[in-house]
Amino acid sequence: MNILILGSGGREHALAWAIKQNPKTDRLIVAPGNAGIALLAECADIDILNGQTVVTFCEENAIDFVVIGPEAPLAAGVADATRAAGILTFGPSAAAAKLEASKSFTKEICDACAAPTAAWARFTEAAPARDYVRNEGAPIVVKADGLAAGKGVIVAMTVDEALAAIDDMFGGEFGQAGAEVVIEEFMQGEEASFFILTDGTNALPIGTAQDHKRVGDGDTGPNTGGMGAYSPAPVLTDAIAAQAMVEIVLPTIREMARRGTPYQGVLYAGLMIDKGRARLVEYNARFGDPECQVLMMRLGAQALDLLLACAEGRLDQAQVHWAEDHALTVVMATKGYPGSYPKGSTIRGLDALPETSSQMVFHAGTTAKDGTITATGGRVLNVTARGATLAEAQQKAYAMVDAIDWPEGFCRRDIGWRAL
Ligand code: AMP
Ligand code: GLY
Repeated sequence: MNILILGSGGREHALAWAIKQNPKTDRLIVAPGNAGIALLAECADIDILNGQTVVTFCEENAIDFVVIGPEAPLAAGVADATRAAGILTFGPSAAAAKLEASKSFTKEICDACAAPTAAWARFTEAAPARDYVRNEGAPIVVKADGLAAGKGVIVAMTVDEALAAIDDMFGGEFGQAGAEVVIEEFMQGEEASFFILTDGTNALPIGTAQDHKRVGDGDTGPNTGGMGAYSPAPVLTDAIAAQAMVEIVLPTIREMARRGTPYQGVLYAGLMIDKGRARLVEYNARFGDPECQVLMMRLGAQALDLLLACAEGRLDQAQVHWAEDHALTVVMATKGYPGSYPKGSTIRGLDALPETSSQMVFHAGTTAKDGTITATGGRVLNVTARGATLAEAQQKAYAMVDAIDWPEGFCRRDIGWRAL
């Protein structure tokens, strides 16, 4: 079959890598793709936020299956457009993707189905929000309601910090995303990510992971999109995963279906685990980046069969074939990230690295010019390895990192520490 993946990050490189290994795949196109993806698939520079553009491209290229990577095209209704055109699609409708695009919507769904999560309130004006914070005290969490590229959440350790966040959000710092603000109880515990495929009715867990959000070793410094990840996450034990399915994920799926907006795609549940129980922090309507890289490294070619079963509504017949393995990815970023950073530095040494079913360098922000790979983004490479143990995966990944010659880049040296 001919497959189109939308996106250009490490997540989409990992999806393309896994899908390419499946014999069902004939032609594989990634739009817009990147320099790493171009080594294994065709890249097409189209506007992936425009549903009609994507539909026309699919028709012109006889695409049988569309896999949508990032949240922006989901929120823009691209899955609605492709499905309406009769094209098999992996990814939720815009109405279902609201689970990521609106924090107050997710909290309402949790309330409606009694899923455990932080106590919350929503505000459209600063004065009552300020009163609420003064009343509740700190620590407390202030969130812009809409999509804010991962920057719309302030975990305030003091009341003053929370008040400042409220002023920033209502002052327009996040544009329309901050026109409504959600204020939440601060939850203590350890975070882990739980990935579940659902076709709207059936649900199939496809793995757990933990990422490292802070830029510096020992989880210090500012937040980033993620500096590394590993799978499985030992803190998310089978018993806690089962509790999260029964109390959080399945009720959410039923509630979405009951409202006439069934969720189809991957549901990424960010969980806070404390005293042996999980509560929901947030949902994302897509795979995590870089969590997808470790999931794909573990799933390999079967990933396509699972995504197809999801899109075709037959997840009840699908099964994940697990190996007893661990995967770990180290993000290499341009020095300066997550602040401002220069673009266009040269990365050497990638050619010499073997790419196998247990080690891969997934590209995020790269371009190729005259055979040279240059860095064009903040997060640039995801150096990913699989092993019988997490320690082995970590050792293999850092051996690859050390073989990459990129003086303008950096990475954390402690990915996996919490589990090791
Ligand atoms: P989000 O952008 O919604 O993923 O939130 C970013 C991060 O903020 C989460 O991964 C948590 O680390 C933290 N966070 C969000 N909500 C809470 C909460 N209610 N209690 C504690 N930490 C939170
Ligand atoms: N790595 C976190 C995310 O994809 O949202």
